[in-house]
Amino acid sequence: MMKKLKKIRLGVLFGGKSAEHEISIQSARWVVEHADRDKYEIVPIAIDKEGNFHILSNEDFFHDIKDVTLPSFIPSIYETCEIDFELKQFSPQSLQKIVDVVFPSLHGTLGEDGATQGLLKIAEIPFVGPSVLSSSIAMDKDVTKRLLKEAKLPTAKFLTFRDCDPIDEQYIIDTLGLPLFVKPANQGSSIGMTKVEEREELEDAVRTAFQFDRKILIEEKVFGRELECSVLGNEEPIASLPGEIIPNCEFYSYDAKNVLEDGATLETPAKLDQEMIQELQALSIAAFQTLCCEGMARVDFFLKQNGQLIINEVNTIPGFTSISLYPKLWEISGIPYPELIDYLVNLAMERFQKERKLLFKPMIVN
Ligand SMILES: Nc1ncnc2c1ncn2[C@@H]1O[C@H](COP(=O)(O)OP(=O)(O)O)[C@@H](O)[C@H]1O
Ligand SMILES: [Mg+2]
Repeated sequence: MMKKLKKIRLGVLFGGKSAEHEISIQSARWVVEHADRDKYEIVPIAIDKEGNFHILSNEDFFHDIKDVTLPSFIPSIYETCEIDFELKQFSPQSLQKIVDVVFPSLHGTLGEDGATQGLLKIAEIPFVGPSVLSSSIAMDKDVTKRLLKEAKLPTAKFLTFRDCDPIDEQYIIDTLGLPLFVKPANQGSSIGMTKVEEREELEDAVRTAFQFDRKILIEEKVFGRELECSVLGNEEPIASLPGEIIPNCEFYSYDAKNVLEDGATLETPAKLDQEMIQELQALSIAAFQTLCCEGMARVDFFLKQNGQLIINEVNTIPGFTSISLYPKLWEISGIPYPELIDYLVNLAMERFQKERKLLFKPMIVN
């Protein structure tokens, strides 16, 4: 008789203090729904809005969630989940007792910016997606763009301001023109972002963006189609077929992305000629490697009318909701959802094994 393989305990981390708490729950639900139960035992780990960790004893929490509603994780409502109070006093090492690998299904601040990745590294637990450095880089739109520029990859024209810098409106408009986009350097889901059509709107837009970060970007508006490409792998990443997002409103805002069912039309695959697809895939892989990504990332583009591709940003924990492109693009490229989870988990394990072999200090030779 064949010996039954021990299941991998897959910790799914979700919620968190970021503005994208609710979307993170939807992404976690996707992982819980699509992970192969012959291989994985799911360990759901909720982080409430105060930042406390709650290890749930079952998956009941996910069963009530509807696609279009965006609930938060409120511990008192989910008493039936039997929070393990011993583990509520969270220590990184306590995680090792209950999971073999973690899928950080967290977006934005503290989840996607390297903080959680650092915690998992300290806890010595393999985790899905890029590690500390590239998570931090990709979260920071300013550092991302500077590295892309240095690698001669195409980005929109931009200026960066810290909260101590003077704002010279005339210089900004002379350099970037109008309209322009003002955004916090470290945010996601269009939070704190404003499209500025007239000079008079600039001051308010700057103030708004500074509420979310001490550093902001002001960018020229790029006129063009919005395309996305999924990348998967460690040393030899592969790129999916691209998809297109056609926002049904002013720009691809928080609501269009996450709340409104008809906020955007998704075209998978995007209608592009073969040459353009190849160029976009090559740029996606180049951006992935330039930012030192591993595991997964979604690379977002604009395609200008003159045929020029511009890289907008790189997301290291892309959405995994029912309307998210990362998993969808893999599905149409030949990787079904459960297999995608296998790939991501294997990539996490592979990196972990390699890093484990590295020396912390030179060996003493007698
Ligand atoms: N420079 C720009 N030109 C044109 N549209 C932009 C520009 N910057 C942002 N947008 C619009 O705003 C959306 C969100 O901006 P993005 O930089 O991707 O931030 P986020 O991290 O919040 O997704 C984009 O998908 C696009 O619709
Ligand atoms: Mg974006």
